[in-house]
Amino acid sequence: MAAKRKAFITGITGQDGSYLAEILLERGYEVYGMIRRSSSFNTARIDHIFGELELVFGDLADGSAMNQLMRTIRPDEVYNLGAQSHVRVSFDIPEYTVDIGALGTLRLLDAIREEGVRCRFYQASSSEMFGQAREVPQNEETPFHPRSPYAAGKVFAYWITRNYREAYGMYAVNGILFNHESPRRGPTFVTRKITRAVGAILRGEQDELRLGNLDAKRDWGYARDYMEGAWRMLQAEEPDDYVLATGEAHSVREFLEEAFSYAGLDWRDYVKIDPRYFRPAEVDLLVGDYSKAKQKLGWEPTVRFHELVRMMVDHDRERRTTEEHYL
Ligand code: NAP
Ligand code: GDD
Repeated sequence: MAAKRKAFITGITGQDGSYLAEILLERGYEVYGMIRRSSSFNTARIDHIFGELELVFGDLADGSAMNQLMRTIRPDEVYNLGAQSHVRVSFDIPEYTVDIGALGTLRLLDAIREEGVRCRFYQASSSEMFGQAREVPQNEETPFHPRSPYAAGKVFAYWITRNYREAYGMYAVNGILFNHESPRRGPTFVTRKITRAVGAILRGEQDELRLGNLDAKRDWGYARDYMEGAWRMLQAEEPDDYVLATGEAHSVREFLEEAFSYAGLDWRDYVKIDPRYFRPAEVDLLVGDYSKAKQKLGWEPTVRFHELVRMMVDHDRERRTTEEHYL
């Protein structure tokens, strides 16, 4: 019997890591996930598959740990999803955000190179790199204009991934992913903040929702679809970079309208604008052109805006324990 392929995931406790781990287990991989030591449990999103995973401690800030993990595990595929991924927070802790998002990527790539591991490498690049976008929609050729420390760090990570591909012949790819959401989305991102508020309002536990800029437009897809796309990128014959998106833009206001009206509520009765949630520099409009991924990987999103909003509202209508919150 052929040995199982080994995958190594940073960021396995996050939204995307949990979906990717499920996909890889379904496909017969031995899945290694790097977790950070925490004083309280932070594995709610992967508790249902805990027994099937090999969890190892590490941190993208810790280069020697990266080397040791690559040397001992010797994975076939590496998915680098770990990051301080909140754009607003990156203005508060810019150095840390860039240390993990940018230098962390370099540490991991260099550990693979130094340890001579012959694996395929996926970098979680972001549509935030387009920032003040030069064209609409954005594709793999659109120039970057990052608007936050988070995005500037992701631009470095994108280029160092390409550099290791060009310089050392590594199979290293960038998935340039537009926003993707799910019932497992972190509660401080705008979509989940809204759908959790809808649930709490319906249960009589909340009577207002404080938000920032309602005019920003995003291209929101479903996280599991995007992790399917990430896996396909590493199965292609040649390494390349791909945009994953839905091609539809909607404003935060439209998301509010859709989520509240689905629950029989009027968002205007609850939403207060709070300057605390504005950003020093905003990204006004992101919408992606995924035709390259469609043509070369046969990838297409299966869930569109309306269905995504409803899926999240349906999930958040139910009262859940902390452990169930992400499932
Ligand atoms: P997420 O839910 O915020 O998860 C982030 C993950 O990174 C968590 O597992 C977190 O671990 C881990 N992490 C944080 N700091 C770390 C460190 N110092 N060392 C190692 N791991 C660390 O993010 P996500 O939505 O799943 O996104 C996954 C990746 O895709 C991120 O790199 C993000 O920037 C990128 N991305 C996301 C989107 C999107 O719309 N979701 C779009 C484009 C790109 P803890 O649980 O211990 O905090
Ligand atoms: N988080 C948040 N909270 N955003 C708000 C709020 C609020 O109360 N009110 C309005 N917004 C607006 C933000 O200003 C932004 O324009 C938009 O809602 C989306 O914000 P987020 O949901 O925080 O996501 P993001 O687009 O900044 O970043 C996400 O997507 C990127 C891909 O484009 C993150 O997942 C990043 O990690 C990812 O790279």
